[in-house]
Amino acid sequence: MTAINRRTFLTWGLTGTAAFLSTRCANSLTFGNPRTAFSSTDRLPTHHFSQSGLLELSLQARQQPVPLGNQTATLLTYNGQVPGPILEAKTGDTVRIDFENQLAQTTNLHFHGLHIPPTGNADNVFLAVPSGATQRYEFVVPGQHPGGLFWYHPHHHGVVAKQVFGGLAGPLIIRGQVDEIPEVRAAEEAILVLQDFDLNRQGQPREPMPMFRRWGRQGNLMTVNGELMPTLTIPQSGLLRVRLLNASPSRIYRLRLDNHPWHLMGLDGGTLPDPVEIEEDLTLAPGERADILVPGTREPNRYSLLSLPYDRGITDMMGGMGGQHHRRAGIDHAPREIARLQYGETTTVVPLPKTLIPTTPLPEPIRRREFVLDHGIDHGHSFLINGRGFDHHRVDTPVQLGTVEDWRIINKAGMDHPFHVHTNAFQVLSRNGQSFPFQVWKDVVNVKAYESVDLRIAFNDFPGKTVYHCHILDHEDQGMMGILEIQPASV
Ligand code: C2O
Ligand code: CU
Ligand code: CU
Repeated sequence: MTAINRRTFLTWGLTGTAAFLSTRCANSLTFGNPRTAFSSTDRLPTHHFSQSGLLELSLQARQQPVPLGNQTATLLTYNGQVPGPILEAKTGDTVRIDFENQLAQTTNLHFHGLHIPPTGNADNVFLAVPSGATQRYEFVVPGQHPGGLFWYHPHHHGVVAKQVFGGLAGPLIIRGQVDEIPEVRAAEEAILVLQDFDLNRQGQPREPMPMFRRWGRQGNLMTVNGELMPTLTIPQSGLLRVRLLNASPSRIYRLRLDNHPWHLMGLDGGTLPDPVEIEEDLTLAPGERADILVPGTREPNRYSLLSLPYDRGITDMMGGMGGQHHRRAGIDHAPREIARLQYGETTTVVPLPKTLIPTTPLPEPIRRREFVLDHGIDHGHSFLINGRGFDHHRVDTPVQLGTVEDWRIINKAGMDHPFHVHTNAFQVLSRNGQSFPFQVWKDVVNVKAYESVDLRIAFNDFPGKTVYHCHILDHEDQGMMGILEIQPASV
């Protein structure tokens, strides 16, 4: 275990009275942090660390009953856990996952947000792992990779929404430069994986009606780390780093920490130049992450993490069809508490860091492209990019290795479409012509109904085919995905 590992305490909240919960290490080493209270629960996710530069584990996708909120649900799991095990590696490490598909259907693995090859047995979403088959995934995390929260989930076109809604998603932490900042090192740390579910009486995920599939499946059961309203503890006068992941297939969260300050330190896989107080709400589209610092400077009360209503276009889709459908589609009309923050013991004062890591702006582009997101009909697909539905035989966007491009993503539909690119993160330049407030690496950007977003992206390494798509996974499954081929300059 390295120094970084020793100071790592990921808090997955516990319901009720519980205080801190440390995660169980894959090698059953226990962490001796005086601020950490241990608790007996079988809900602990396993936490796999790299050792001597190698993160190695077996990962099995299988369906099984698991505790979810206050019930038992029959879900699709990684190693029997929802969310899946926490994987943690450092920049420069090798990751080797022996994956086994024990599901009744084909699946595969995608490492969302990682800057690694999209080819071979690295982050190759064109690999299919049939039922009963095994596949070794292996890659090196580049030495210059940003530290951040990434995640893994299935990516077999056509069944992605169903499999993610069944529970398949897990966090992947890369420790990098940002983790060496003294105040960040001194902070307690919590990961909150946001997943919603729609279960029938037997506790099995429901398959949505076609209309809700078009909108993007959403459920009324809103879990955080597989729990209902967990409590996380902040050390009084200390600092809590909260790392949020929206692992829901379609739900867009609008979050508020009620009556308590919180500061943004990063988005997706990138870090901001300095922490910025979140004044209103934090919106997280599917696939997006937020890295947050919460200073333990308030009265030691309980504070609520609220999920506020967000309309991503249901009104547009259903016209006047009314409240019955809204309930059925997991739409809220009032704020809901999804987690709580409570104060723990007083610790030495940890201030907010003054500076974090600036992101160097990308150079001017050699070419501009437009991507029009719309609904229509193309060979049985109804969610289209530039008039076409996904075809795995077609290269939609050939780009040259070593170049920079500006992409304008134009949403012509009355529904939000969060746009995601594999392999290379991008910098958002503007939204509807208004410049984006942060210079930061992102890999998902929500393009709201009738909006357009400009982003800048570089293709400096990793030639091969990869994809971009809407991260409302039902839209991706129904065609809103294209193939990007990064071509070596001299072919
Ligand atoms: Cu999070 Cu292509 O996916
Ligand atoms: Cu991805
Ligand atoms: Cu979409």
